[in-house]
Amino acid sequence: MSEKPVCINDYEQQAKRILPKAVFDYFCSGADEQETLADNVAAFSRWRLYPRVLRDVSCMDLSVSILGQRVSMPICVAATAMQRMAHPDGETATVKACSSAGTGMMLSSWSTSSIEEVAEAAPDAVRWLQLYIYQDRQLTTTLVKKAEAAGYKGIFVTVDTPYLGRRRNDVRNRFQLPSHLRMANFETSDLAFSSKECYGEDSGLAVYVARAIDPSLKWEDIAWLKKITTLPVVVKGILRADDAREALKYGVDGILVSNHGARQLDGVPATIDILPEIVEAVGGKAEVFLDGGVRKGTDILKALALGAKAVFVGRPVLWGLACQGDKGVSEVLQLLREELSLAMALAGCRTVKEVDRSIVRKSVLPSRI
Ligand code: FNR
Ligand code: LAC
Repeated sequence: MSEKPVCINDYEQQAKRILPKAVFDYFCSGADEQETLADNVAAFSRWRLYPRVLRDVSCMDLSVSILGQRVSMPICVAATAMQRMAHPDGETATVKACSSAGTGMMLSSWSTSSIEEVAEAAPDAVRWLQLYIYQDRQLTTTLVKKAEAAGYKGIFVTVDTPYLGRRRNDVRNRFQLPSHLRMANFETSDLAFSSKECYGEDSGLAVYVARAIDPSLKWEDIAWLKKITTLPVVVKGILRADDAREALKYGVDGILVSNHGARQLDGVPATIDILPEIVEAVGGKAEVFLDGGVRKGTDILKALALGAKAVFVGRPVLWGLACQGDKGVSEVLQLLREELSLAMALAGCRTVKEVDRSIVRKSVLPSRI
């Protein structure tokens, strides 16, 4: 029997042994040369922690509010598509683990369990829908309405994907969903990314996106989205201070600083490096979140210190799911929670509020990696 994983990288190694190659490749890949993929992780070690001592850290409280919902910790699950490729229970396992951990899950529009199935699996969990805006606005509206009806608490609209980034292994593998799976929120086989459709010699998903997703999206479409829903709206995929300020003009409730796990435009900065300028530009007028490369408790502590209200994790959850379904996801969330709690205590912070800007500074030393 393999040893119990003690860090997120251990889960990744186990998942790599378990998953079919094309699935693992799809989950782990970044775009092009994967420069940003490596940097998302490495950049955290360019920041150094400055702990306070003698602060009585015997009692810790990690809870925070996100878009008006109390969650047990500032660590939530990012949208990752097609989770039944990782484990037969897919998104229903992930949401159960989130529910037990008391934290929130962002469900992908491209889930292999439907919006309603995920709600039924964990009615009490804090759930948000990640939204792709289709060329067909009626269809897009239907997704939003389904989320509202099923008790989702917000919409994370992805704004960095007019086309899919080029992930070379997905092209090599002619990546497609296995024939027994479909994107569960769509009725017809072409919209469900079904293997019945023909996607030629490219990444099937890249072809799907080019056929269905609207590359003409512009800021006015955020105004449209705000108009069709009563739920809070977060823009997912902001990398510039001026775009963050623009988003505020459209009344968004939150900004997720994200480079899509380095899967879209390669060569963009690591998210942790641009977080401070975006936090400054937003000036407290919306909630700011971060995802990308978060793999351990000290990464999370640094993101909080630089002004993120919470972080989202993508791949680590897929690794836990692949290893042991909902139990694996629970373990991953628990591991990150324990690592964050320890890091906060060692830095002299009892609550997330006490994690302030002064405990982190850009390192003057060359980074380790
Ligand atoms: C994603 N991501 C993503 N984002 C989104 O808006 N909709 C989606 O359906 C998906 N699907 C998806 C699949 C896979 C396999 C990955 C790895 C990522 C991006 C995701 O929400 C998040 O931005 C990153 O995963 C965060 O980076 P880490 O934590 O994976 O490094
Ligand atoms: C991806 C899409 C699903 O990154 O967002 O693969």
